[in-house]
Amino acid sequence: MLTKGFLITFEGGEGGGKTTQIVRLRDKLTKLGKDVIVLREPGGTVISEQIREVVLSAKNAGIAYTTEVLLFQAARAQIYREIVLPSLKAGKVVLIDRSRDSSVVYQGIVRGFGKDLIEQLNDISTKETYPDLTLLLDVNVKDGLKRREESGSANRLDMEDTSFHDKVRKAYQQLAKDDKKKRWVVIDANKTIDEVDAAIWQVVEKKIN
Ligand code: TYD
Repeated sequence: MLTKGFLITFEGGEGGGKTTQIVRLRDKLTKLGKDVIVLREPGGTVISEQIREVVLSAKNAGIAYTTEVLLFQAARAQIYREIVLPSLKAGKVVLIDRSRDSSVVYQGIVRGFGKDLIEQLNDISTKETYPDLTLLLDVNVKDGLKRREESGSANRLDMEDTSFHDKVRKAYQQLAKDDKKKRWVVIDANKTIDEVDAAIWQVVEKKIN
């Protein structure tokens, strides 16, 4: 799909600091006079936030993996139609905390539904939209989980065991390595917030003018 805006997604395992960094990037871009929108998945619209509540609530431990796959996609289909695609068409910079690659990693690779099937669903949900840039905030699993614990905001997937989070990290690293569209940049998120912020800005500044 042809768009005029610029889509940046933030990806990575738990505790990589995506949420902090996305706000910092928004502020920098806004200072440059860009029209910026910040979103998160699952969520970002009234309907998608309701789906988020169902899919991430620790109360719903009994959710089937297939239901999980489809709920993440349902939330995605809604946010792309309601906000992402119209914003890109209007020339805005759209920053999303997780998008299609989270489904590839968590549901496709780690849960085992397969990358191809999930990408087909992603294409339906996003109307075949790929990010212009994907920043992988790569943090070692132990520190990531510790940060998450300290923030006190663990969701249903955070409660999976360490081997789950190890698989998530490796799957992301592999996707970035296999990247044929050259849209992935790996950021070392083990560093301080300011250092990560500077590393992100170095990448984004060159791409957005
Ligand atoms: P969130 O609280 O937003 O966590 P984080 O700060 O790590 O982004 O929770 C999002 C969770 O949902 C996270 O554990 C990853 C998972 N997820 C999927 O499994 N598939 C998806 O397609 C998306 C968007 C998220």
